[in-house]
Amino acid sequence: MRVTINDLRDMKANGEKIPMITAYDYTSARIVDAAGVPVILVGDTLGQVVLGYDSTLPVTIDEMLHHTKAVARGAERALIIGDMPFMTYQTSTEDAMRNAGRFLQEGGAQAVKLEGGVHVAATVRRMVESGIPVMGHIGLTPQSVHQLGGYRVQGKSLKSAVRLMEDARALEEAGVFSLVLECVPASLAKLITERLSIPTIGIGAGAGCDGQVQVFHDMLGLFSDFVPRHAKRYATLGEAIADAVAAYMGEVRDGSFPTRKHSYHISDDVLAELEAQVR
Ligand code: KIV
Repeated sequence: MRVTINDLRDMKANGEKIPMITAYDYTSARIVDAAGVPVILVGDTLGQVVLGYDSTLPVTIDEMLHHTKAVARGAERALIIGDMPFMTYQTSTEDAMRNAGRFLQEGGAQAVKLEGGVHVAATVRRMVESGIPVMGHIGLTPQSVHQLGGYRVQGKSLKSAVRLMEDARALEEAGVFSLVLECVPASLAKLITERLSIPTIGIGAGAGCDGQVQVFHDMLGLFSDFVPRHAKRYATLGEAIADAVAAYMGEVRDGSFPTRKHSYHISDDVLAELEAQVR
């Protein structure tokens, strides 16, 4: 049975930590799902780690839907959350509802995520009232990178910490089922987590959150253009792939690949007949 937003709430209540991972295609979703990860985020980090953009800003809803559908085909059990890209919910509540609806109807996601605090709370409320589960995202919100003046830790001053607490409360009040805290001091994230009844999911927000999220390509060592401090490498697949490709090229060049095992065959009789006919 698929994980639900109620299961996540129960996990927080039971003190069970929530591991969330991003995925962007069928194969990675199958692997992550089979490993038992309860929540998969089809993040708009897609823009950087899959599509090669220099930020999340150019990502379109059509690109997100294309990849969300692939993930939905691969993940049978995990809750799938589609990340709403820049300018698909900031323009109006109507746009937000229409675009979020596309993630559920066309993409096969069970929920959406969007960035922002107090100023998106009214939109979130309408979405939730319409039956769309919404995950919030505050702290470093990469779609606002130019407004924030860069990819910086948020909530370090008293004023900005108070604002984040207000954002968190406004989103909980509006009905988000969970909240991502990105690049927030660990003690502030812990305090927010303690004050909310919904689960918080941290990335660069310390161990006091109810769960953690990591970007698939970062944690597996597949993306090295930029490695944030909060990304932990659990594997070095980029190096493993480079080694495998080098071995393949070497075997093609020296003729040791393909072997008989990797080839298809006809019987010697048919071959002899063929050679006689085409002589
Ligand atoms: O797009 C994404 O992958 C995200 C996570 C980093 C939280 O928003």
